[in-house]
Amino acid sequence: MPSTNQVTLNAPLDMHLHLRDGEMLENIASSSARTFSGAIIMPNLVPPVSSKEEVIAYKARIKEAIGAEDFTPYMTLFFKPTYDKAFLSSVRDEITAIKLYPAGITTNSEGGVSGFNVEELRPALEAMAELDIPLCVHGETNGFVMDREAEFVSIYEKLAGAFPKLKIIMEHITTKASVAALDRFENLYATITIHHLLITLDDVAGGMLKPHLFCKPIAKRPEDRDALLKVALAAHPKVMFGSDSAPHPKHAKEACGCAAGVFTAPVALQLLTELFEEHNAPLDKLQAFVSGNAQKIYSITPLSKQVVLEKKPFKIPSDYNGVVPMYADEKIAYSIKEVING
Ligand code: NCD
Ligand code: ZN
Repeated sequence: MPSTNQVTLNAPLDMHLHLRDGEMLENIASSSARTFSGAIIMPNLVPPVSSKEEVIAYKARIKEAIGAEDFTPYMTLFFKPTYDKAFLSSVRDEITAIKLYPAGITTNSEGGVSGFNVEELRPALEAMAELDIPLCVHGETNGFVMDREAEFVSIYEKLAGAFPKLKIIMEHITTKASVAALDRFENLYATITIHHLLITLDDVAGGMLKPHLFCKPIAKRPEDRDALLKVALAAHPKVMFGSDSAPHPKHAKEACGCAAGVFTAPVALQLLTELFEEHNAPLDKLQAFVSGNAQKIYSITPLSKQVVLEKKPFKIPSDYNGVVPMYADEKIAYSIKEVING
């Protein structure tokens, strides 16, 4: 993208978002709803969203928190191997995807999957494939922290091979091993965050420890970030933007025992625009990465929303209602000029 004063993005989509619940939901919902046309909403509440009633009630609470903004919450359920075809058929119209967490791997994932036995998972995953419900996966083993995602690639391959009709989304990929897996299986797709395109482990722990950059999966090596940049900047048709914006209260981040998650929702589009410009990537690739690819992969038609960004320095606030964003107090190159709904 050549240097430009103004960029307009159509119907930006965030394909991996934590909106939380209660007071946190009230405090941060507008950060996404103002500038995104819609988002895939993660189900890792306490307790996790795992019944039809819970998904309907959570969606209603989100709608109330976003008020008059044009914003579609694309709902998900927390995967359980016990889901059967009758249950999945009954809930099909309420959800866009189902999210699978390995047990205990990240925030509120204790009720997730252990062992990844194909036969145990078969009834639920075959029913999902038949009903065309994509499976979003947090792909980490409980091995050494830098190797967890690369070790999980063999599980992705096992699932992708055993369930060729199931769309599997590798969430928030951080390694060149995951990027390489994309092209080996037709049914594997991926989301990529803005923070994993910008930082490596050095930014998190190479100098003073930066708790607001600590997340799961942890940021990796320069060569991993390069592999992510390559597919994101080219808008590889199987990758899409998913912020994994994961707010925690300031006291839970600036603590002995820091919660995992980077809060990027209010600054994601500005940072993405700056990144694409810096790398001279064409605007149509940015548009595909933040919306077009996701529309095709998920077969969705988002609400119309035009976000106009201008090249004008923006000083990121030190917090949004008590939640510290990525790059708090720093200056970035782009600001949101206006948002045109409808
Ligand atoms: C997420 C959260 O806090 O819910 N944390 C994170 O570090 N990304 C969970 C997740 O997506 O792993
Ligand atoms: Zn997440």
